[in-house]
Amino acid sequence: MNLSTSYLGLSLSHPLIVGASPLADELDSVKKLVDAGAAAVVMRSLFEEQLQQESLAALKHLDGHSDFYAEATSYFPSTDVFALRAEAYLNQLRRIRDAVSVPVIASLNGTTLGGWLDYAQQLEQAGASALELNLYSLPSSPLQSASDIEQAQLQIITQVQSSVKIPVAVKLSPFYTSLPHFVADIAKTGARGVVLFNRFYQPDIDIEALENQLELHLSDSSELLLRLRWLAIVSPRTELSLACSGGVHCATDAIKALMAGAHAVQMVSTLLRHGPQQLRKILDEMTHWLVQHEYSSIAQLRGSMNHARSPSPAAYERANYIRLLSSFHTER
Ligand SMILES: Cc1cc2nc3c(=O)[nH]c(=O)nc-3n(C[C@H](O)[C@H](O)[C@H](O)COP(=O)(O)O)c2cc1C
Repeated sequence: MNLSTSYLGLSLSHPLIVGASPLADELDSVKKLVDAGAAAVVMRSLFEEQLQQESLAALKHLDGHSDFYAEATSYFPSTDVFALRAEAYLNQLRRIRDAVSVPVIASLNGTTLGGWLDYAQQLEQAGASALELNLYSLPSSPLQSASDIEQAQLQIITQVQSSVKIPVAVKLSPFYTSLPHFVADIAKTGARGVVLFNRFYQPDIDIEALENQLELHLSDSSELLLRLRWLAIVSPRTELSLACSGGVHCATDAIKALMAGAHAVQMVSTLLRHGPQQLRKILDEMTHWLVQHEYSSIAQLRGSMNHARSPSPAAYERANYIRLLSSFHTER
C-alpha cells in the first residue's frame, strides 16, 4: 500500500497532518503527534496585529515618541492574547525542526500589505518547510467590492511568495463569489496550494446581557460537507496542492476528503478532543479500509469522486439541490 502523497511539493509519507492550532505550542505534544504518525505539522498563526504591535513597541523604545505609538497601538489587542511572541515562535519553530523529521509548516495570519510580511523570510530562515498564509477577514464596508478584496489578497499572496523560496499555501474562507476563479488567480501568483477552509468564528448573542458571546466550539463531521463539495469542484481544475481543513474526525472523513481531491488532510478538533493517538487510529483505519477495498495507493483514491468527468459541475450541483429539496417528505 503506497500511502505517500505530494503536498506543496513536499513528499509526505501519507496525507494526514496536524492543522494550525495550539497542538504545536509544546515540543512534547509535537513529538507525541509525530510518534503517532503525523506526516507534517502546521504551527498556529503569527498575527499581523501582533507583529505590528511588537515592531511599534520596539520603535517606541528606540526613539521615545511614546504618545504617537500609544495611540497607534491602542486599536490592537493586547500582546497578552497572543500565545507566542514572534521571537518565541521562531525559537519554537527551530526546536520543532531539530526534534522531528517531518515537514513543519509555519503560519501567518493577516489582511493588509505591510512590514509584518517580512516575517515570512524569518520563518523560512528558522527552518519552515512551507508557509500557510491565512487571510481571515470579514468584509463589512459597502464601499469595498468583492474584486477590491480579492485584488488586495492577491497582492499579499504575491508579496509573501516572492519573498521566500519555500512553498506558500493560502488558507481560504469559503465565502468567495467564484472560488474556482479566485483559486486560478492564486495559482498565477506562484503560490503552491490552498487550504479549504478557514473555520469562521461566529459569535452568538446573549439576549439578557446584550453582549456578544465569544466561545470557540470544536468542529464535528457535518462541517466536512462544505469542504467536500468545493474540493470536488476545484480539484479537477487546478494544479495547486489542496488541503482539506475542517470536519475530519475519523477515517471515513479522511477518505472522503481524499476522494473529493485533497492531497493532504488537516485535523485539529479531533486531536484536541481525543489526543495524539487519534491520529494513529485514523491512519490505521484508513489503511485498513484501503487494503480491504483493494486500493494500491492514495494516488488511485485521490479525486475519484471529484467533478473531473462532469461536463457541467454547476448543472450537476443544481440538479442535486433540486432533487434533495423534492425528496423531503414530512412525517404526517
Ligand atoms: C484552538 C484552535 C486554535 C486555532 N488556531 C489557528 C491558527 O492560529 N491559525 C489558523 O490558520 N487556524 C487555526 N485554527 C483553525 C484550525 O487550523 C482548523 O482550520 C479548524 O479548527 C478546522 O479544522 P478541524 O475541524 O479539524 O478542527 C485553530 C483552531 C482551534 C480549534
